[in-house]
Amino acid sequence: MSDLYGSRAGISGLVHRPRRLRRTPAIRDLVAETEIRRSQLVAPLFVREGISEPIPIQSLPGVMQHTRASLRTEVAELADLGIGSVILFGIPEHKDEVGSGAFDPRGIVQLALQDLTADHGDQIVVMADLCVDEYTSHGHCGVLTDAGTVDNDATLEIYARAAVAQAAAGAQIVAPSGMMDGQVGVIREALDAAGFSEVAIMAYSAKYASGLYGPFREAVDVEIANGGDRRGYQQDWRNSREALIEVTADLAEGADIVMVKPAITYLDVIRAVREITDVPVAAYQVSGEYAMIKAAASQGWIDHDMVALEQLTAIRRAGAQIILTYLARWFAEQSIASTGRA
Ligand code: PBG
Repeated sequence: MSDLYGSRAGISGLVHRPRRLRRTPAIRDLVAETEIRRSQLVAPLFVREGISEPIPIQSLPGVMQHTRASLRTEVAELADLGIGSVILFGIPEHKDEVGSGAFDPRGIVQLALQDLTADHGDQIVVMADLCVDEYTSHGHCGVLTDAGTVDNDATLEIYARAAVAQAAAGAQIVAPSGMMDGQVGVIREALDAAGFSEVAIMAYSAKYASGLYGPFREAVDVEIANGGDRRGYQQDWRNSREALIEVTADLAEGADIVMVKPAITYLDVIRAVREITDVPVAAYQVSGEYAMIKAAASQGWIDHDMVALEQLTAIRRAGAQIILTYLARWFAEQSIASTGRA
């Protein structure tokens, strides 16, 4: 019997020889387990109030602070490239203690949401990041107590107002990113009460107090007051089980999609979250993760395209089906160029 398969003893006699299936590109495609779809990539975009030309962000090569007009052009191009979704971040001209630009119907993100809704209707999924750090003078994700710490419950009221303002302006999905306890439930209730029960919530459920958000802070002109950080409300990177508690709570409060952030540094968390829920799991390849690829590639130390593809694939393989990434446009362009298919 053993002659049929060759000798079963020893390395050379193994019945399974995976190398047989690595022999040609076509065979490799045939057996590939993972695929990145443009329709499941979300491009993070920045729109800034009070500028007349787009401004490049130094630490995020290829990414801009957009004007309302240049944002419209960018989104039209992304839609043509087959990118499924965009998520908007606003940079207001004036910041204040409570971040009123986040819920003002004339706030920059609300205006941009109206523009994009007018341009595309429901042809592209328009999301809005829901937080106040871009809008507060102190750079925290919530309002502060007299002692200077974030007041969780007072912040929830502001998030509820921001959610309704974003939904009224056309957001199809709102994405609370401040890690306040109870934020998903309060936002769900506020949306339903205002007649927006069809607007979905993508919760930044497992969001770590990461060092990888540096370039983003430049992108949105945020500096946390007094050298502060977010360790009091975002997760400690030493913990992964804690992420499951956060996800479970958000699901109970009505989250439609749960997110892990950052992505590449937390692949284990993505996998663990994937295993406990059947709702879509998103992951955010954050600004620092993107900037590291760009910086090393610009030195010629790594191959940009290989590493970019390898890392996006790793996020997908870990179990995220939706990926927020500054590489969205690059991915679409190179996949169209390499397959010849729009
Ligand atoms: C909060 C928010 C942040 C990011 C997304 N939403 C910054 C923070 O929590 O400090 C970071 C995204 C990135 O680094 O690309 N509004």
